[in-house]
Amino acid sequence: MKYDFDSVINRRNTNSVKWNMNPEQDILPMWIADMDFKTAEPIIKVLEKRVQHGIFGYAETPREYFEAEVNWWYKRHNFRIKEEWIEPTTGVIPSLSAVVQAFTEPGDKVLIQSPVYNYFNSSIINNKCEIVLNELKYNGEYYKIDFDDFEKKASDEKVKIFILCNPHNPVGRVWSKDELERLGEICLNYNVIVLVDEIHRDLTYKGNKHIPFAAINEKFLMNSITCTAPSKTFNIAGLKTSNIIVANEEYRKKVNRSLNVNETIEPNIFGIEALIAAYSEGEEWLDQLLVYLEENLNFLYSFINKRIPKLKVVKPQGTYLIWIDCRSIGISSKELSKKVLEEGNLRISDGGTYGEAGEGFIRINIACPRTLLRDGLERLEKVLKKL
Ligand SMILES: Cc1ncc(COP(=O)(O)O)c(C=O)c1O
Repeated sequence: MKYDFDSVINRRNTNSVKWNMNPEQDILPMWIADMDFKTAEPIIKVLEKRVQHGIFGYAETPREYFEAEVNWWYKRHNFRIKEEWIEPTTGVIPSLSAVVQAFTEPGDKVLIQSPVYNYFNSSIINNKCEIVLNELKYNGEYYKIDFDDFEKKASDEKVKIFILCNPHNPVGRVWSKDELERLGEICLNYNVIVLVDEIHRDLTYKGNKHIPFAAINEKFLMNSITCTAPSKTFNIAGLKTSNIIVANEEYRKKVNRSLNVNETIEPNIFGIEALIAAYSEGEEWLDQLLVYLEENLNFLYSFINKRIPKLKVVKPQGTYLIWIDCRSIGISSKELSKKVLEEGNLRISDGGTYGEAGEGFIRINIACPRTLLRDGLERLEKVLKKL
């Protein structure tokens, strides 16, 4: 079956965070991380069936749910996990927060690598901890880790957790085995737990392979907690269903307790069905999606090279969130994204949202039909021509 990623589906008036903006203004949204594609047919089918049943009481996660998660890790990422390691929950953000809460005391510190997904900050601050930044270094082509600085920061005994984003939002890196090993060894040396956000694990471009941090060796497995979900991969974020993988039994008890304290232990009835269908029957759709995203990426490169050469795309290895260097324009990225919204009716993400290290960059979501991508880039071009 050939899936259709080209049709433009109207998402206005569907309570979409991405699209619910002033309808009179014809704003095109290319910011928040969801896709403008219909999800895979098998998912739609099971949800329709569930709706027809008509009763939506409290849900239990059945055996098939755990089996589907285990099988997906193995078939897509060659990682054999056990059913008992899985803690189902309602999203990666609540998971991060629950884990930070479980393993820190107020006043402790949590290490992150900026620029990075902004909700990492809230999971730290809301738990009364301090953020410690290990800034990623841009070499004009891609981002690298400053390991000396990482070790210096990790060696502070107040640092209890390092939150790793792999693949990394927003800089698009799929971290290599060597990089992950160096990070993991440093964390082991200084008793820092690695909290891994692998929500974008399935979305990698040709030639790049996602390596689950916990799969590298037994020591890393026992010193890590991995958060994941089918939500980015299958565009089902609104179904609020995700999993935490914890092999270390002592850690798992703490994570489970914290999820219970926060009452975020039960995914919803539709999310359960969707996860099973996605991981059991969604591969064909995903493989076609990855081809379409790669074509969108190539479209973006050639458009920007030809028509907006002032911008430089930071070549992503994974994720549909594209990080673009705008420093040659000479205005702040906040001002730039404001202008693009007000004068071009295009909503993009200001790089500064992801920390000071993101200043001078913007983030664009390319997971949309190509006609919308072209429209968005033309809007961007129009505004930038005037600057
Ligand atoms: C790295 C990362 N983690 C977590 C999330 C959100 O996770 P959830 O919707 O499951 O809370 C996102 C969404 O963009 C993300 O990019």
